[in-house]
Amino acid sequence: MSAAPAAEPVRLHVNGVEHDVVCDPDTPLLYALRNDLGLVGAKFGCGLGLCGACNVLVDGHPTHSCDTPVWAVAGKRITTVEGLGQDGRPHRLQETFVEAQALQCGYCTSGMIVTAAALLEREPEVDEAGVRRALDGNLCRCGAHNRIVRAVLCARPCAGRATGTT
Ligand code: FES
Repeated sequence: MSAAPAAEPVRLHVNGVEHDVVCDPDTPLLYALRNDLGLVGAKFGCGLGLCGACNVLVDGHPTHSCDTPVWAVAGKRITTVEGLGQDGRPHRLQETFVEAQALQCGYCTSGMIVTAAALLEREPEVDEAGVRRALDGNLCRCGAHNRIVRAVLCARPCAGRATGTT
């Protein structure tokens, strides 16, 4: 009986760092990020591409990492919520989510933030309707959507710093 062939490493470019991850190429990106690289910001929600809790950016585009195999993103630029800010210098959205208290249990937060980061990158002056459209695929079961939308609006370059909390 012959041994199974050794798995080939898949090269993932995550948050500016290259990683060679040894796994089945069909492994969901979410599992590689969480289990192999220790990046646990993206969450497993539905596992079906329906809730956005697992969202990361692939070449700047919000992507469900739960149903994206690692082979499909080899060599692409992957950004997780951990890669948006730097130690001591959070991304503006990370600040406004805190200021606006735009979370309750926090499970959806990283998916919301990376999706919103991509939105503000391509449309910095987006209006409220545009924010709601962009976040339509990101579910918050705690019902914090209004505060989330406010946090995104406050992260726009044209917005002031005050967010309020109601
Ligand atoms: Fe990926 Fe819900 S866990 S979309």
